[in-house]
Amino acid sequence: MTSVAAPTVVHTRAPGKINVFLAVGDLQDDGYHELATAYQAVSLYEDVRARHADEITVEVSAAPGIDVRGVPTDDRNLAVRAARLLAETTGYRGGVALHIDKTVPVAGGMGGGSADAAATLLACDTLWGTGVGRDELLRLSAQLGADVPFAFTGGTAVGTGRGDELSPALAKGQFQWVLALADVGLSTPQVYRELDEHRRRHAGEIRSVRQPVVDNGVLQALRAGDAAFLADGLHNDLQAPALHLQPRLAEVLEVGESNGALAGIVSGSGPTVAFLAADPDAALELRGALRAERLQVVRATGPVHGARVVAD
Ligand code: C5P
Repeated sequence: MTSVAAPTVVHTRAPGKINVFLAVGDLQDDGYHELATAYQAVSLYEDVRARHADEITVEVSAAPGIDVRGVPTDDRNLAVRAARLLAETTGYRGGVALHIDKTVPVAGGMGGGSADAAATLLACDTLWGTGVGRDELLRLSAQLGADVPFAFTGGTAVGTGRGDELSPALAKGQFQWVLALADVGLSTPQVYRELDEHRRRHAGEIRSVRQPVVDNGVLQALRAGDAAFLADGLHNDLQAPALHLQPRLAEVLEVGESNGALAGIVSGSGPTVAFLAADPDAALELRGALRAERLQVVRATGPVHGARVVAD
């Protein structure tokens, strides 16, 4: 009889995301807003390596140009919270030494921390042999943050509720993105607060969006794999408050849109700006034009898979 040795290190990977459509409804009693969003997972990944240890610890490294100084390595780190939640839920008594290698911008509105949490849940479940199963991992994901379930499932999906109630959406082909990263991150709660304040100030003029819905044209464009059609439908209610907090983003949008982008959008709560390009050649050209403006730029394609174990 052969026995299978327990793994000593587990390597997992989860993607960042772009909200190609994000409508924000009213603030709920739990402090969250009702959302209707269309997520696309893109080819910027967070890699997590997990090893057995007595305590739960985390170390963080990153691709060149990604500043990890703002990432906490104590109990505030979402990966540490993910490991702790799985241990508490399953009664597992040991720990884990986590190493995160980031390529998703920190505090950039692309769900990097959420990807860390999703990859960590999967890594710890595999390393510890807790075997809780996909449905339970998804349920735990939702307790860690609104975007974590999507980092787990990946692909293309519509998110409602806080953004954590997912239904898969059909998508064809590959979309080409060019991402302009910002030097300074934006705090997600602050961007939502800015939106609320704006809506309060203009309460008389703005119709309350009680039940936000994803625009049908966006879903059709994703289904058809049609970049020009998707460009027409890109929408983000958090864009105006993000621009208010970082006015320079308006110039970044302008530079991209006048250099061949089909359209540009602030990603999630920002400040990363995502430009949609017609094809790989247009994406390369756009990257060059943005770099000439001294912006830090990376390319990505989507949709890509969600959290998975990587065989090294
Ligand atoms: O769930 P997550 O930790 O990513 O959310 C960060 C913050 O963003 C929340 O504390 C809340 O202020 C805001 N948020 C919101 N409505 C959502 C998602 C996030 O107000 N649907």
